[in-house]
Amino acid sequence: MKVANIYSSITGNTKLLAETIKSEIKEEIVYFGKPINEEIDADVYFIGSWTNKGDAANDIINFLKNLKNKKIVYFGTAGYGGSTVYYDTLFSRVKQYIDSSNTIVGHFYCQGKMPIQVKERYIKMITENPNDKNLKVSLKNFEDALTHPDKKDLENVKNWVNETFTEMKYNNE
Ligand SMILES: Cc1cc2nc3c(=O)[nH]c(=O)nc-3n(C[C@H](O)[C@H](O)[C@H](O)COP(=O)(O)O)c2cc1C
Repeated sequence: MKVANIYSSITGNTKLLAETIKSEIKEEIVYFGKPINEEIDADVYFIGSWTNKGDAANDIINFLKNLKNKKIVYFGTAGYGGSTVYYDTLFSRVKQYIDSSNTIVGHFYCQGKMPIQVKERYIKMITENPNDKNLKVSLKNFEDALTHPDKKDLENVKNWVNETFTEMKYNNE
């Protein structure tokens, strides 16, 4: 089985997931890195992105749109954590870019820390709207995100990689 691992990461969270996934893959890895325009010939495509305003990164969206008849395994990081419902919503958006000729094997998300400017923006907004509870929740979420991806997230992604390969091999038999 030939595996490609393609990801987009600005501040390193998704890169860390991608590297952890890479370290867990026992099959031949034919490509590891950011999306490129050339054809990557693999049987399975691990594709990862940070979350950009509820969506995947543009380079990942474009890459996904061009894939046909492939096995796709998706992973992502998002500033908001702890909610599978939110992650499923994010993934349902990503799914729209995937042609129906492909097989979506699975998806994995975890929380990823955000740049300090996000906190500064929340604090400024709280100063202007001191009674806004949502802003306080967002600020708390910012603080919670600071340690992610953490050791547990990386353990979870490793387990998920192994389960994913077991499932793919089982389905191929
Ligand atoms: C411009 C911008 C938009 C973002 N939009 C969202 C969002 O809609 N939802 C979310 O959960 N996180 C959002 N985030 C947070 C990032 O997706 C998150 O911190 C991610 O782990 C960054 O990954 P990276 O380190 O691989 O770049 C946003 C971050 C930036 C900079």
